[in-house]
Amino acid sequence: MKVLFVTSEAYPLVKTGGLGDVAGALPAALRDIGVDARILLPAYPDAMRRARLTGKTVPLGNPLGVGETRLLEGTMPDTGCPLWLLDCPAMYERTGGPYMMYSGVDWPDNFRRFALLSKVAAMIGTAGDLMDWRPDVLHGHDWQTGLVPAYLNAWGARRPPFLFSIHNMEYRGLFGPEILDLIGLPRSQFSINGLEFHGLVSTLKAGIFYAQAVATVSPSYAAEIKTPVGGQGLEGLLQARAGDLSGILNGIDSNAWNPQTDPYLAAPIDVADPAPGKRINKDMLKRRMGLDADGDRPLFGLVSRFVAQKGIDLVVAALPGMIASGAQVAILGAGDTGLEAALNDIVGRYPGEAAVHVGYDEHLAHLIEGAADFLLVPSRFEPCGLTQLYALRYGTIPVVRRTGGLADSVGHVDEGPNGTGIVFDHALPDALNWAIGRAMTLYRDKATLNKVRQRGMSQDFSWKRSAKEYLRVYGSMVGGDVHRP
Ligand code: ADP
Ligand code: GLC
Repeated sequence: MKVLFVTSEAYPLVKTGGLGDVAGALPAALRDIGVDARILLPAYPDAMRRARLTGKTVPLGNPLGVGETRLLEGTMPDTGCPLWLLDCPAMYERTGGPYMMYSGVDWPDNFRRFALLSKVAAMIGTAGDLMDWRPDVLHGHDWQTGLVPAYLNAWGARRPPFLFSIHNMEYRGLFGPEILDLIGLPRSQFSINGLEFHGLVSTLKAGIFYAQAVATVSPSYAAEIKTPVGGQGLEGLLQARAGDLSGILNGIDSNAWNPQTDPYLAAPIDVADPAPGKRINKDMLKRRMGLDADGDRPLFGLVSRFVAQKGIDLVVAALPGMIASGAQVAILGAGDTGLEAALNDIVGRYPGEAAVHVGYDEHLAHLIEGAADFLLVPSRFEPCGLTQLYALRYGTIPVVRRTGGLADSVGHVDEGPNGTGIVFDHALPDALNWAIGRAMTLYRDKATLNKVRQRGMSQDFSWKRSAKEYLRVYGSMVGGDVHRP
């Protein structure tokens, strides 16, 4: 089985969130079970610097009329997974993020940048002589790759089948209809039975509509997106495609996130006796973030993009009460400037008790996961969520809202013998306050605290199980009827 992973990020080459983690780890896990998985990723400057390039290039000409384009062959630096970087300097050789300028504004030509990625993926799928390798399945991720099957449809190509993975319905890839001429897609696709969405082009809808099969990153989110609450206006289409939609929980890269060997930790954390390792990491984190070292007080961590999805406003509302009840809080993240300002403001009132680091910091993310007693994940919605999985592995008890992948990966301590975290239901400050109160009580009961930590650390969230499920989906696509196009 040969599978081309088409993605806009892949750790450690480029990452803005969980998609990067997944696209870095899942192809390697698939290779471990015998799948010939390879990655196609834009040749951003960071990716060029970090990839191991073989020197072999495949010229592609100027497929979208936006500049000379070629493929650079290489491998991923840590897993050795084969990789093609899609090199088009006019599109990707820029300083800034993969989707935005440093100012936080989207690149105005994103439709071209990701149409090029999608078109080249479709070309690799259909042109046997492009390179010595042709995939049996194309597997694209999120709105950035939703046009892959639109190109295949436009060309009348029935194969290879395309699996569309949805990591987040909120990003619908919306652009004006005038882009269709510019990226070489027929206007006939601009229809309710196509990629039209309320008078705009939605590349997310294109992916869902034209793919042979659709996957998302947890069973609960697969159910939620078929309802108005999670479907972002595409719930009807997702209901229509329910027979081809699967929800497969993400795993974690158990090498990059291993509490025994993590180079970013001050001490390893041992499942047989987590407390000593946790204490050393907690002391280190408090020093690093300027938190008072005295006393035995629970430390709550938060590692997140600062966006409405993540319930950051709930943390802002809960913070004064947390400090008043004796907790300390360590926050890492970046994103929405309003949320950054709100956090800076509230945290600034409690020096020594709460601290926030605004920015992207892989090292600090690992240290918080290892050092905190509890990790806050109060998301309004969460397709899967990875930080709670890292927390469980690092003996940090997640405090999560019962939604999406959080509901599928964390059980509430009072709801059965296998509880691994604190789970609350409503995206309201009072509900989060209740959950924090429950965490404070648990913290004082050291025997139970230790037991819950150990339970979390013993869970298996490795990619192996999920990789097998993806292989099953690929198999059904290759063997079965090609429903679309
Ligand atoms: P999402 O993809 O919605 O952001 P996930 O929980 O799936 O949420 O994945 C987030 C990933 O990004 C995790 O690996 C987390 O550690 C990382 N992360 C988020 N914010 C930061 C940050 N400011 N610095 C470093 N890593 C971060
Ligand atoms: C998205 C989601 C997150 C998920 C990640 C990887 O960014 O917001 O819940 O874990 O993708 O699938």
